[in-house]
Amino acid sequence: MQRLKIMSIFGTRPEAIKMAPVLKILKEEKKYFESKIIVTAQHREMLDQVLNLFSLSPRYDLNIMEANQTLFEITKKTLKGLNEIFLKEKPDLVLVQGDTTSAFASALSAFYHQIPVGHIEAGLRTPLIYNPFPEEMNRRLISVISSLHFAPTYWAKNNLLLNGISPKNIFLTGNTVIDAMLHISKNIKSAPQLLNKLKNKRIILVETHRRENFGKPLEEFCKTLKKIVKNFTDVEIIFSVHKNPKVREVIFKKLVNSAQIHLLEPLDYPDLIHFMKKSYFIMTDSGGIQEEAPSFGKPVLVLRKTTERPEGVQAGAAKLAGVKSSKIYKIAEQLLKNEREYQKMAKTINPYGDGKAALRIVQAILYFLKIKHYPPKEFKG
Ligand code: UD1
Repeated sequence: MQRLKIMSIFGTRPEAIKMAPVLKILKEEKKYFESKIIVTAQHREMLDQVLNLFSLSPRYDLNIMEANQTLFEITKKTLKGLNEIFLKEKPDLVLVQGDTTSAFASALSAFYHQIPVGHIEAGLRTPLIYNPFPEEMNRRLISVISSLHFAPTYWAKNNLLLNGISPKNIFLTGNTVIDAMLHISKNIKSAPQLLNKLKNKRIILVETHRRENFGKPLEEFCKTLKKIVKNFTDVEIIFSVHKNPKVREVIFKKLVNSAQIHLLEPLDYPDLIHFMKKSYFIMTDSGGIQEEAPSFGKPVLVLRKTTERPEGVQAGAAKLAGVKSSKIYKIAEQLLKNEREYQKMAKTINPYGDGKAALRIVQAILYFLKIKHYPPKEFKG
């Protein structure tokens, strides 16, 4: 049997984390697949951390990152780089993950070459095309282009059905981030030293990077954090500061002089997991962290006006805190003061996955390519 050539493309740190479990299984299934990795490197340092961590070796590296580059540049460079690779490699299937501009431009490139696309983490939606920006439009467009849709949850599957996508092309798999997180948790290295110093403190882990939060919302977050440490002397804030200059300018300017606030370079994935496990609760606009935190019993305050991940909110593990300081502070204060409220949020079951999403995705590919006769059993969230 001729092996099928699958090219998996990604550009940022979270895509690499969420793609890694699938790449591991594709590599093991050598009998069926020739698996090649392309990175756009929309992120550089943050992507390379994850490539090392999961021992991933890209066959091609478009190396597109430049400081403060625009969406036009990311799209243009990805389209051009992939055109040359696809002409030479002629893959049977392209895999993309999530909703970054790398993922969208890769799906579009594959479409221009009439190569089928499989979309991992398909079907997430908000009702607003500019929130999150540009991710909401990216994922809608990827859905239109894709032939295979790997929905992480029942809600995501239903969104795809409402968009008119045929049920036979949708596979309910769970989210691969849980596979990655369980794998790293098992093989975790020693804890960051800072944790020893914070032994009897309540740690709030903070991470924020979304474009729609640049400017005023970021300033509101800083105001909230300052008020929290002023009123709760046993609280220490660990802020993993994203590499984006638009984030750094505000955070370093507003928070640099506070003794209870630790501004750290973007935490590598194992350290992030350590801090998540030791935190009291988490404040973030990140999607992946919203998905991981319930596994550690950590409440999440989602620093956004809307979320494409309502499952965590419905399960009681997360609260949509918005972007105004007064509202965010009120929710944080309640968690810090009211043990019963806190326990209600901490004791929920993770609705996002069971650690077998990557296996289901590979089985679905084999089924789609008519190598296996049965589709995988659906993830029961
Ligand atoms: C990108 C994705 C976002 C995803 C996020 C995860 C888009 C439009 N945005 O946002 O969906 O949730 O990644 O982190 O696809 N930089 C570095 N080194 C790095 C990474 C970034 O210096 O390792 C700086 C560069 O100046 C870069 C800037 O950050 O130009 C912005 O990066 P970009 O990928 O455009 O946007 P993110 O905010 O990282």
